Order: sequence, then structure tokens, then C-alpha cells
Amino acid sequence: MLRGGNIVAMPSETVYGLAANALDEQAVNRIFVAKGRPQDNPLIVHLSDARQVGEVARDIGGDVQKLAGAFWPGPLTLVLPDKGVVAPNVTAGLGTVAVRVPANAMARKLIEQAGFPLAAPSANRSGSPSPTTVRHVLDDMSGRIPAVLDGGSCAIGIESTVLSLVCAIPEVLRPGFVTPDEIAQVLGRPVRLSAYVEKAPGGKAIAHSPGVKYKHYAPKADITIILSDDDDYYAHMALIQRQNPGAYALCFTEDVPHVPLPSVSFGSREAPEEQAARLFSALRLLDEKGAKTVYARLPAAHGVGLAVRNRLLRAASFRVVDLMNHARGKR
Ligand code: TXA
Ligand code: MG
Repeated sequence: MLRGGNIVAMPSETVYGLAANALDEQAVNRIFVAKGRPQDNPLIVHLSDARQVGEVARDIGGDVQKLAGAFWPGPLTLVLPDKGVVAPNVTAGLGTVAVRVPANAMARKLIEQAGFPLAAPSANRSGSPSPTTVRHVLDDMSGRIPAVLDGGSCAIGIESTVLSLVCAIPEVLRPGFVTPDEIAQVLGRPVRLSAYVEKAPGGKAIAHSPGVKYKHYAPKADITIILSDDDDYYAHMALIQRQNPGAYALCFTEDVPHVPLPSVSFGSREAPEEQAARLFSALRLLDEKGAKTVYARLPAAHGVGLAVRNRLLRAASFRVVDLMNHARGKR
């Protein structure tokens, strides 16, 4: 199918991807149509081996060698100068190309047997949470794509870390399972975190990673983040229950017995890896339950928690009620 210019959903260790021949503009265009994705949001190019980076990107220096050695195959995407080999709609004409070598063996085998690099965004309809199971893919894409390669549930459950190497200081554009500290340690110098990781891009901001400006990961429900300690969260939820008994809590496993509203948990407070693996399923479950209004907790901003936090903030369109600092309110 891929050789014939078609698109196929494939598993990866992060989330399911919707793949097409990265060298074929028409095939890549089918991805944009099936997802309903804006044309100015570029795609990640998936390779089966780190040695192929030089076929699609220029100026591969020591940083790429170090990072590839430490994290590939795995959930790290590198933004590098484009060589003009992949189709123009893969890179949205940015002059850069994003590449990664997935850890999932089935994905690597698919790329290897296709014989060309695969452009693949997450296999969800544009704007909804990334799919971490075949069922999620089918819920979004049934009738819009010819096939899904079934690799079971995705082990990590949250998309790759996107790191730009085209600026003087390497910049994390999207946090993921590979953390900024781990990257800095391997590079032997500091890395920067994009300002858009923890705040909404202003209308006029030119985003380095076009994806950050779109509403994302959002279920149909309106999500509001509650920043508070445990007791204040429970007290606030009791208040909400009196005002809106149909509301839901999106919370840590430890919170469930203390929350007076129906709740969906996304993992233990102490286990950001578990939260990453469960978050997107939890968001989809809220939709299935018909939740309209959701009040969510936010993990601490370190390690993998930074990535979980980023996805939650974006699912909530950055709507945060801060009970720690006396309800600065919607910001
Ligand atoms: O884990 C993942 O990265 C998954 C699996 C399938 O590999 N893919 C994924 O793709 O999450 P997608 O398209 O949903 O997200 C790719 C992100 C977007 O935010 C996009 O804007 C950014 O990477 N991106 C792609 N190419 C870029 C480039 N040349 N410069 C800056 N950002 C880029
Ligand atoms: Mg996506």
C-alpha cells in the first residue's frame, strides 16, 4: 500500500502514526486530507536507521551523533536543516526537517521493507488526542484510511520529544519521554525549553514548531486545570458538585476516593510514566462518558511530568484556576 502511494496507520512506541512515503508529495497529501490537518503544520520523517539521517538532512554534526547514540531508536525527534529530498508538504517549506528513528520494531521493519522514509503524524483526526491503541485509530479514522498495522498498545503513550538543533542553543519544542535534563547531559551543554511548552502562543507569535499554535489533544468536554494541593482540590470539587453535578474530575488515582464527582484517573501522582501511558485514553474515556465539563489536576513540571503537563494544558486550552495563588482565574 505504501509503495502504491497510499497511507497506512502504524504503531510506534509513542503513539500510532499515519504513514506515507515521505518522498511522494501526493501520498503525503493524503495524510493531510485524512486527518483534516492544516497544510502549514509539518510532519516527522521516520527512518529505520540513524545512518539514513544524512539522506534527508544537512549539516549533521556532533550533536546529532551524540543524541542518536544515546536515544535512537527511541522517542526523540530532531529538527535539522532540510536537504530538499523529502516532499515539500512534509516540511511545510520551513527549510528544516524533523526526523526520528522509532524504537518500535514493527515500525522500523515497515520503514525498512518500504524502502523509503515514512512521514507520519499522530494517527488522530486533527485536534483530538493522539491514538495509543488500534481502537483509538479506528474511532477517528475508520473509513478514511485503508489499513492499520496492529501493534497493540503504545508503551510510552505520549508523543516524542521534539528538539530543534537549528538554533544556537538547542531548544525543546515539545517535551516528551526524553527529558531536557537527559538531553543536556548527553550534549554537555544547556538546552532551552520553548516558551510555548507552558503557555498559550499569542495570536501574533511566530511559532518555531507550527503545531503549538493549534488546539490539540482536546476531547469534546471543556477542561479546566485546578492548581492546588490535595485538600483544596477536594474542597473545590465538592463546591463544583453542588453547582454542576454533571461535571467530571480528571485526577490522580490517589484522588479517586476523595472526589465527590464522577472521576477518570490518569495514573498515580508519583508515576509520571504511568500518567503518560494513560492520559490520552483517559481523555477519550471522558468523551465516551459524555462529559461536558472537566476539572483536572496537573503533575509537577519535572521529568516526564513536564510532557504530561504540556498535553493537559493544551487539552484545556491553557485554562487554569490557580487556588495556590488565590484564583488568579482564567489566564
Ligand atoms: O511520537 C511522535 O512524534 C509521533 C509518532 C507517530 O512518531 N508523531 C507525532 O507527529 O506526534 P505530529 O505530527 O502529531 O507532531 C509533530 C510535531 C508537530 O508539533 C509539528 O509542528 C512538529 O512536530 N514538527 C514537525 N516538523 C517540524 C519542523 N521541521 N520544525 C519544527 N517543528 C516540526
Ligand atoms: Mg499530532
